[in-house]
Amino acid sequence: MYAAWLLLASFAVSALGKPKPPTRKTCSVPAIGGGEDDGPTINKVFKTCSTHSRIVLDKYYVVDTLLLTKDLNDVEIELSGTVQYTPDIAKWSPQSLFLTYQNATTFWFLSGNNIHMFGGGTIDGNGQVWWDTLNNTGNSGTAGGSSTTFARPIPLTVGNATNVVVENIREIGSPFWFVYQSNNVTYKNINIRAVSFSSSPTANSDGWDIYRSNQVTVRDSVVLNNDDCVSFKPNSTNIIVANMICNGSHGISVGSLGQYAMETDIVANVSVTNVTMINAQNGARIKVFGGNPNPNSTVGGGSGYVKNVTFTDFFVQNVDNPILINQCYSTNAAVCAQFPSKLTISDIHYINVTGTSSGHEGSVVVDLECSDICEDITATGTNISVGGSNKTATYVCKNIGTTSELDFECVAPST
Ligand SMILES: *[C@@H]1O[C@H](CO)[C@@H](O)[C@H](O)[C@H]1NC(C)=O
Ligand SMILES: *[C@@H]1O[C@H](CO)[C@@H](O)[C@H](O)[C@H]1NC(C)=O
Ligand SMILES: *[C@@H]1O[C@H](CO)[C@@H](O)[C@H](O)[C@H]1NC(C)=O
Ligand SMILES: *[C@@H]1O[C@H](CO)[C@@H](O)[C@H](O)[C@H]1NC(C)=O
Ligand SMILES: *[C@@H]1O[C@H](CO)[C@@H](O)[C@H](O)[C@H]1NC(C)=O
Ligand SMILES: *[C@@H]1O[C@H](CO)[C@@H](O)[C@H](O)[C@H]1NC(C)=O
Ligand SMILES: *[C@@H]1O[C@H](CO)[C@@H](O)[C@H](O)[C@H]1NC(C)=O
Ligand SMILES: *[C@@H]1O[C@H](CO)[C@@H](O)[C@H](O)[C@H]1NC(C)=O
Ligand SMILES: *[C@@H]1O[C@H](CO)[C@@H](O)[C@H](O)[C@H]1NC(C)=O
Ligand SMILES: *[C@@H]1O[C@H](CO)[C@@H](O)[C@H](O)[C@H]1NC(C)=O
Ligand SMILES: *[C@@H]1O[C@H](CO)[C@@H](O)[C@H](O)[C@H]1NC(C)=O
Ligand SMILES: *[C@@H]1O[C@H](CO)[C@@H](O)[C@H](O)[C@H]1NC(C)=O
Repeated sequence: MYAAWLLLASFAVSALGKPKPPTRKTCSVPAIGGGEDDGPTINKVFKTCSTHSRIVLDKYYVVDTLLLTKDLNDVEIELSGTVQYTPDIAKWSPQSLFLTYQNATTFWFLSGNNIHMFGGGTIDGNGQVWWDTLNNTGNSGTAGGSSTTFARPIPLTVGNATNVVVENIREIGSPFWFVYQSNNVTYKNINIRAVSFSSSPTANSDGWDIYRSNQVTVRDSVVLNNDDCVSFKPNSTNIIVANMICNGSHGISVGSLGQYAMETDIVANVSVTNVTMINAQNGARIKVFGGNPNPNSTVGGGSGYVKNVTFTDFFVQNVDNPILINQCYSTNAAVCAQFPSKLTISDIHYINVTGTSSGHEGSVVVDLECSDICEDITATGTNISVGGSNKTATYVCKNIGTTSELDFECVAPST
């Protein structure tokens, strides 16, 4: 009787319990020390432990070789140490990996399925030398034509990847920005700091740039930088951004989009919630190029749409443009008037955007300027005061389909 019950119980557990996970091989990455290049060792360990494994990066690694860690499957990456790229411009510019979009390149391309990176460690882009060189040469430093001399790579790119979680990682001194071309990627508890210690400004130190990716979440993170905090580049869909503190940035930005006349850019289903935006150029921003008569234009004329983007509980403090739509971005006003943007903007919602502007734009705290008609734009709970003065806030609108669902009084732009 007793034995039969035991048998039954153990049968039930094996029938209902999850299948036993494959045993995870643990692979620790040694560091050579003495400033020697650990890149080849890191690449080798990722190659030999690319499936059902746990890779431990718990040392201080000096990296002078492109990290190309691909075809991973079910890999845990414990980064509790530091990965620091060498400040060797001559070496990195030609060897960093080229990523078509805006000729960007990267120090580390992380690719595969079911990847979990965590551990409290640091990725250090060693940006100072890149910012100083940019400051002194004026070379904008994208790849392509100038790749062999000055490429300013991205510290970590999750690319061609699915089902990825990156959490509890610090990223400092980015010489450029992050890009992603992936599906189902979550970042949480990320601390990004791009601070220059010389008189050179940091440049293109974006927190996240999302590109050709679906289902991306960025949450519970803190960013100190001098470019977009999070930006949604062409074909960013089903995105959640939540619980962020952005200091010194250019805002949470859709775009820029529509730059290339031959391309279609889509940004749809974006939810941005609970963001504190401090000392920034913009708060909630959408930037789209105007139209262009040249079918091969690379300065506007692209088509596509921005649709269903919601900014909720967005708090601004010392922000130049708390709410901004510009559908003539980087486009000559006369050209834009004659050739309105072919990239439509609709279904955009601002819920509880509050705080104080910087006063940089005078009394203007909201600036919604479309070149084509923007439809279904709504705002509720807007409460933004003008920083540094007692001026009454003003709200500028142009080519907004209907203004009746905005909770402020629109005025036309003063040309
Ligand atoms: C990328 O590089 C190519 C070749 O040098 C150049 O023609 C193009 O303008 C560059 N694009 C960007 C966005 O910098
Ligand atoms: C990423 O995927 C694209 C398209 O499939 C491919 O062309 C590209 O080579 C891949 N990149 C890398 C670094 O594997
Ligand atoms: C997304 O990725 C997470 C983490 O790897 C996974 O748990 C989840 O099932 C994935 N979602 C979908 C829809 O594939
Ligand atoms: C950056 O450029 C400015 C203007 O050209 C110059 O005055 C300054 O010294 C430069 N900073 C550094 C660290 O080289
Ligand atoms: C909003 O974000 C802050 C961090 O920026 C966090 O402390 C707070 O708990 C979040 N609020 C909600 C309701 O999630
Ligand atoms: C924002 O960054 C500046 C340094 O650039 C710092 O002095 C300030 O304390 C930061 N503010 C917050 C709220 O973190
Ligand atoms: C964006 O997606 C659309 C629809 O799938 C596609 O036609 C277009 O080429 C994509 N654009 C980019 C820049 O990837
Ligand atoms: C709008 O986007 C949200 C995600 O941000 C999604 O849940 C919702 O279904 C979308 N609504 C429409 C009408 O597409
Ligand atoms: C946006 O969300 C809606 C509702 O979930 C979905 O039908 C639509 O396909 C999504 N759009 C894109 C471009 O993913
Ligand atoms: C656009 O590019 C195509 C292919 O390169 C070329 O045949 C055409 O003449 C160009 N059109 C204009 C207006 O430049
Ligand atoms: C917007 O703010 C109002 C007033 O503080 C509050 O009642 C409401 O719950 C907020 N809405 C959202 C979606 O957070
Ligand atoms: C705003 O008004 C208050 C009271 O009228 C006054 O004390 C204060 O100096 C004014 N501030 C500015 C920046 O004008």
